[in-house]
Amino acid sequence: MCGIVGYIGNKEAYPILINGLKRLEYRGYDSAGVALLNGNINVYKRKGKVSDLEDYTKSQNTDGTIGIGHTRWATHGEPNDINAHPHRSMDGKFVLIHNGIIENYGKLKKSLEEAGYEFTSDTDTEVLANLIAYIYKEGDMSVEMAVRLALKKVIGAYGLVVFSTEEPDKLIAARKGSPLVIGVGKGEYFLASDATPIVEHTNSVIYLNDDDLAIIKKDQMVLKTIFDEKQEPVVEELDLDIGEIDKNGFPHFMLKEIFEQPRSILDTFRGRVAKDNSEIVLGGLYRVIDDLVQAKRILIVACGTSWHAGQVGEYMIEDLARIPVEVEYGSEFRYRNPVITKDDFVIAISQSGETADTLAAIRMAKEAGARVLGICNVVGSSIPRETDAGVYTHAGPEIGVASTKAFTAQVTVLAMIAMVLGNKRGELSTDDYNELIHDLTEVPAKIEKILQQNEEIKAIAEIYKEATNAIYLGRGYLFPVALEGALKLKEISYIHAEGYPAAEMKHGPIALIDENMPVIVIATKDKSYDKIVSNIQEVKARNGKVIAVVTEGDDTIRNMADHVMEVPESTEMLSALTTVVPLQLLSYHIAVMRGCNVDQPRNLAKSVTVE
Ligand code: G6P
Repeated sequence: MCGIVGYIGNKEAYPILINGLKRLEYRGYDSAGVALLNGNINVYKRKGKVSDLEDYTKSQNTDGTIGIGHTRWATHGEPNDINAHPHRSMDGKFVLIHNGIIENYGKLKKSLEEAGYEFTSDTDTEVLANLIAYIYKEGDMSVEMAVRLALKKVIGAYGLVVFSTEEPDKLIAARKGSPLVIGVGKGEYFLASDATPIVEHTNSVIYLNDDDLAIIKKDQMVLKTIFDEKQEPVVEELDLDIGEIDKNGFPHFMLKEIFEQPRSILDTFRGRVAKDNSEIVLGGLYRVIDDLVQAKRILIVACGTSWHAGQVGEYMIEDLARIPVEVEYGSEFRYRNPVITKDDFVIAISQSGETADTLAAIRMAKEAGARVLGICNVVGSSIPRETDAGVYTHAGPEIGVASTKAFTAQVTVLAMIAMVLGNKRGELSTDDYNELIHDLTEVPAKIEKILQQNEEIKAIAEIYKEATNAIYLGRGYLFPVALEGALKLKEISYIHAEGYPAAEMKHGPIALIDENMPVIVIATKDKSYDKIVSNIQEVKARNGKVIAVVTEGDDTIRNMADHVMEVPESTEMLSALTTVVPLQLLSYHIAVMRGCNVDQPRNLAKSVTVE
């Protein structure tokens, strides 16, 4: 959710913080703020974007070589200047930025109020700032100890950075549930919620674990737990290129990421597929492959777009490996008392690797004795660190809030897993296995071809940009694509859209169809082709407008539909990878034409670290 940055060293902190906040803005963007130590602590915060904060600080003193910054996605209190972070304690001695939720903040606030503390904001974070100040004032102790003692009283999740006028040479950072990364420079340290603001300064990073507490001076860092146990920091090298987090000439990250898919899919299977297409080797599966092959049932847990990828995975694994699969929303799974046994195998899918509900679901599954595999994109994030095994998607950083290339990379990994499982279980013959591998290697070139239709798709977008509703229909592997297409449209253009299995249309959505209703039908040539042609006719008979995603050269549907978007022929099992691309482009262009903020849609956040 929120984005955190921090700097301590010999350079001016402000430009580093502002630049970092811009990199992190995709994590939250309703307000932003910085605090800089320069004798006193100067705190500047503003409702709105980081650019609003930047405009505001133009006339302010932003000097200082120690500072922290925050970009917010509101949980407690509406987005406004006062609720924006950083928050200062009433005595002005402590300043804090925080990502997460302090669940017992009400109780803590009440006792602080009884002790005479007054609060200016509605946030849980200000409560924590005052709790630290109160503990510090009551005892004869260091700032570090006050922070530690305060955190022991906290129930909830946090990634936080605090500094104090009492010991102005250090930043204190702590993590429980919300990610924090420390960049190690020469005589300087950087802090952030993820590595994107750090990579332009250093490649050496330390990922904090839950309950870690770092005491950071410009030339020294001590790592402990909040229980005062010394920890040995593990410095890792970042494998992230600065070019990957820039727009590279595209007007939006989302468009860049859509266009990156031929490469990101290639990166996802490269090195895992043997040159002669004879086999797939997923190093991350090695430790759990026997459990997976013998699993009585596979449970896939995920949220949002990753859940849609999971749905495609269900069809693939059942199809090729004949293992029963259930796909669960992390949030439902964790609270609905599901039956989990040691014979179950859980696959958690998450772009960010931080989604709170998915994380909680895998913890529950592990407790019940199931083995857990993670499919994540962000290296070093929480889910890969908590699972028994994992396969990274290697899609590169996804900055646009609406997920695109992460989805196709997840589906690519799931396809590889399904093929490996199918082959190992004797359900998929070696010839079919090799042919499918070959088909997978052809996907990037097919997507290149689809992307060449960008202008045609833009022209279709122009016609439907004023729509208020849309229905997406698909069957089989293309049903989850319908769900994903609808989600893309509603996320970024705020047009109400629903995805349905095409045959279900008759059981409700058909009542909505009139001459104003665009119906996007994913209708490539597969075993349900004739059925979906009938569904198109049913829509046309009611004067609905049909935009169809079809296999190249399909004149039957071309003659029936109002518009078509073509994709190259594909094996059915991999058809989600190609058919989703025109839908991503259609949503993108509609959203741009409606003047929406495509990369940062209202109310959404890229990484949902609260439940
Ligand atoms: C948020 C994002 C979505 C994403 C979902 C799950 O809602 O806006 O794009 O699909 O979280 O995130 P994850 O990182 O677990 O894939």
